[in-house]
Amino acid sequence: MNPKTFKIKSFGCQMNVYDGERMAELLGAQGMTAATDGEDAELVVLNTCHIREKAAEKAYSDVGRLRREDGTRPLIALAGCVAQAEGAEAKRRSPMIDIVVGPQAYHRLPEMVAAVSNGARPVDTDMPAISKFEAMPARRRANPSSFLTIQEGCDKFCTYCVVPYTRGAEVSRPWKDVVAEARALVDAGALEIVLLGQNVNAWVDGKRGLADLIRELAKVDGLERIRYTTSHPADMRDDLIAAHAEVDKLMPYLHLPVQSGSNRILKAMNRSHTAETYLAILDQVHAARPDIALSGDFIVGFPGETEEEFEATLSIVDAVRYASAYSFKYSPRPGTPAATMEDQIPREIMDDRLQRLQARITEHSLAFNRSKVGCDTRVLIERKGRRSGQMIGRSPWLQSVHLETHAQPGELIDVTLVSAGPNSMAGAIRQSEAA
Ligand code: 5AD
Ligand code: SF4
Repeated sequence: MNPKTFKIKSFGCQMNVYDGERMAELLGAQGMTAATDGEDAELVVLNTCHIREKAAEKAYSDVGRLRREDGTRPLIALAGCVAQAEGAEAKRRSPMIDIVVGPQAYHRLPEMVAAVSNGARPVDTDMPAISKFEAMPARRRANPSSFLTIQEGCDKFCTYCVVPYTRGAEVSRPWKDVVAEARALVDAGALEIVLLGQNVNAWVDGKRGLADLIRELAKVDGLERIRYTTSHPADMRDDLIAAHAEVDKLMPYLHLPVQSGSNRILKAMNRSHTAETYLAILDQVHAARPDIALSGDFIVGFPGETEEEFEATLSIVDAVRYASAYSFKYSPRPGTPAATMEDQIPREIMDDRLQRLQARITEHSLAFNRSKVGCDTRVLIERKGRRSGQMIGRSPWLQSVHLETHAQPGELIDVTLVSAGPNSMAGAIRQSEAA
């Protein structure tokens, strides 16, 4: 029997969120409808993430939990990076999984669903030359802030990371497709577009790079804000830095992961930068856009990391004064070079370092947010807050701003930032607006 309702559960990064939205549109175009909250969907797609430990185990236990009380279950598709990594093994490990579909093959989901009703249990983890994007329906729905994947995969091979194996080599979507999708999103109501890629600043089409693309998108009427994430220091070209000075619609925010402040660890990670070259890039970015909010990623407890080397990470956090940052305990990923390195760091040490790092990051986030108190700015309303009458939006610096307002999602309103916490701001509608 062909399913009529579906639910897509996405885990992990923003690129999975984007893929989840595209799969929903694809299934919708086949006449299926998204199950409402609490409703039992006939097809469940688990769109998984493989970046950290126990990802596969978690996915299998999520699958197990889909069994209903009466012993029946929905049709189950395992998608995303765990599907890519496990492939046919997934069907052997869990007889409940009907479909295994990798991130480059999900345009085939409808035909795979149809094949299940003929008794098949299809697996597709190919990375075909023909892009899945070409096989997708045009975009008709958008969020006020919409994701747009422009680049996938990674050629950098950091020694801890599975991405080059699960998402494959760096591939950029063509210029004209990206511009067309951006226009479609704006026509459907997007005011902000977040360009996504594992190495988004490695995006290329012929001679054109991300800076050219951003300048082109800035010409789209109705598009107010442009962001991009995640970037690699090695691809932070001068023209992209210049765009931060010159393109008003490009928001003053940059997520540029450094991972560690120790040059010995950076080398062991196969990062192509040192602490000094990274800081030099940020100096340039800062000169181009003095109010830029900086963000990054960190790994603590990489094999062999000494207390001193960890302290170098704390020092780089102090030097950059990040507005926000993500930090993770090193997690050995099967098949990556770091997983078999000597001197794996005991869990208690990693826990201690993570706690200290996060405390330090929080101090800087709070300081950054406090520095914006009293600032008049614009907030893009995205969703309702927890309290009635409260809405949540984003400032140009990607801060979450809580407001009492009648404004609705998709409105860009003038706000004064009135107070700061480490993770969010409170704002007030500006007087002239409120009248
Ligand atoms: N262990 C811990 N963190 C990791 N990341 C990637 N691989 C690992 C790993 N094996 C982190 C990096 C990266 C972010 C997306 O996830 O900081 O920037
Ligand atoms: Fe992973 Fe490094 Fe590529 Fe980022 S740049 S996806 S951390 S291999």
